[in-house]
Amino acid sequence: MNREPHIAVAGATGAVGIEMIKTLEKRNFPVGKLSLLASARSVGKKLKFRGTELTVQELTHDSLVGVDIALFSAGSSISKEFAPAAARNGCVVVDNSSAFRMDETVPLVIPEINAGDVKLHRGIIANPNCTTAIALMAIYPLHQAFGCTRVFASSYQAVSGTGAKAIAELERQVDEVVHGRPVTREVYPHQIAFNVLPHVDSFLPSGYTKEEMKMENEGRKIMHHPQFRASVTCVRVPVYRAHSVAVSGEFEKAISVEAALAVLRNAPGLDVVDNPAKAEYPLPLYQAERYNCAVGRLRKDCAMENGLCFWVAGDQLLKGAALNAVQIAEELIKLPAPATRRENEKAALAVS
Ligand SMILES: NC(=O)c1ccc[n+]([C@@H]2O[C@H](COP(=O)([O-])OP(=O)(O)OC[C@H]3O[C@@H](n4cnc5c(N)ncnc54)[C@H](OP(=O)(O)O)[C@@H]3O)[C@@H](O)[C@H]2O)c1
Repeated sequence: MNREPHIAVAGATGAVGIEMIKTLEKRNFPVGKLSLLASARSVGKKLKFRGTELTVQELTHDSLVGVDIALFSAGSSISKEFAPAAARNGCVVVDNSSAFRMDETVPLVIPEINAGDVKLHRGIIANPNCTTAIALMAIYPLHQAFGCTRVFASSYQAVSGTGAKAIAELERQVDEVVHGRPVTREVYPHQIAFNVLPHVDSFLPSGYTKEEMKMENEGRKIMHHPQFRASVTCVRVPVYRAHSVAVSGEFEKAISVEAALAVLRNAPGLDVVDNPAKAEYPLPLYQAERYNCAVGRLRKDCAMENGLCFWVAGDQLLKGAALNAVQIAEELIKLPAPATRRENEKAALAVS
């Protein structure tokens, strides 16, 4: 991999795309060249990167030619249309959509958990679901220490998880309610201001939503733990930014609050905020714009043997999307440069 790669952000004008640009800058990613891509609607828009205004171009197959790493956040259908062709042309796509997450040939990566899977890529690497990523930041270290068999969880998901239009919907509805005007709806099936919706993503025949099944399906793949089980209820709440998840986990080994705290305090990318006497616990308001997730409210689960309850919160635009994607790109540029075709041919001759 080129050590100063040509990077493209596909979906650069969206809620995640904007954070990707900021994250590349803040983490001093060694960007050789940056292409900002979006739909035809955004062509000509200017976005700043390292003090320079860059012009947004339309995402086309041609706009990805010569790109080393493309960070995609323009939705599943766009990823399916553009990512495989870009990968065939030598670009590595880090995809935020759900399009390839469960594809066996595509690594699904949270660098703090399975950074080693990055090297298995064949041109596409998937970023996990945002709620799953935030919950696993606490579940995985506990699993390593105590063996997590299953979790029961409820999410409290911010509107920015649905994208820029949903942020505008909450702002508009709050204003409408406060000023006594009729509430208008475009994004969600019900009013989200001053309400909570037990409905994230579409319903499956089982009664769970697609979003709810991601924690089990993606969790198994990321943690290399095929027996992991997760029963989840996903809820949209009128919070602008940062998701929270209430988790009850069951473990193979005996678990105490003290032993769990000792493990969580050493977990990468995670802060422990757990002082109930002082009303200190993770809050989405304060997790917004932070790289680390936070865990607190630890207690023995009173309804399960070897059970532990906890509350984890994190900025889903960052750890659930932009930050995780940039961390994957950081892993990519650490990989040894691919051998040239001539070197590969020599190696093949030597073997035969
Ligand atoms: N929001 C989150 O917290 C989050 C977390 C994890 C994963 N994701 C995933 O990331 C993706 C984007 O989410 P978002 O929240 O950033 O959505 P968003 O705010 O609605 O942004 C969508 C982006 O996609 C672009 N786009 C739409 N149609 C396009 C087309 N035909 N060609 C090229 N670009 C097109 C938009 O460009 P225009 O501005 O030109 O329309 C915009 O830049 C989704 O797959 C989502 O599931 C989101």
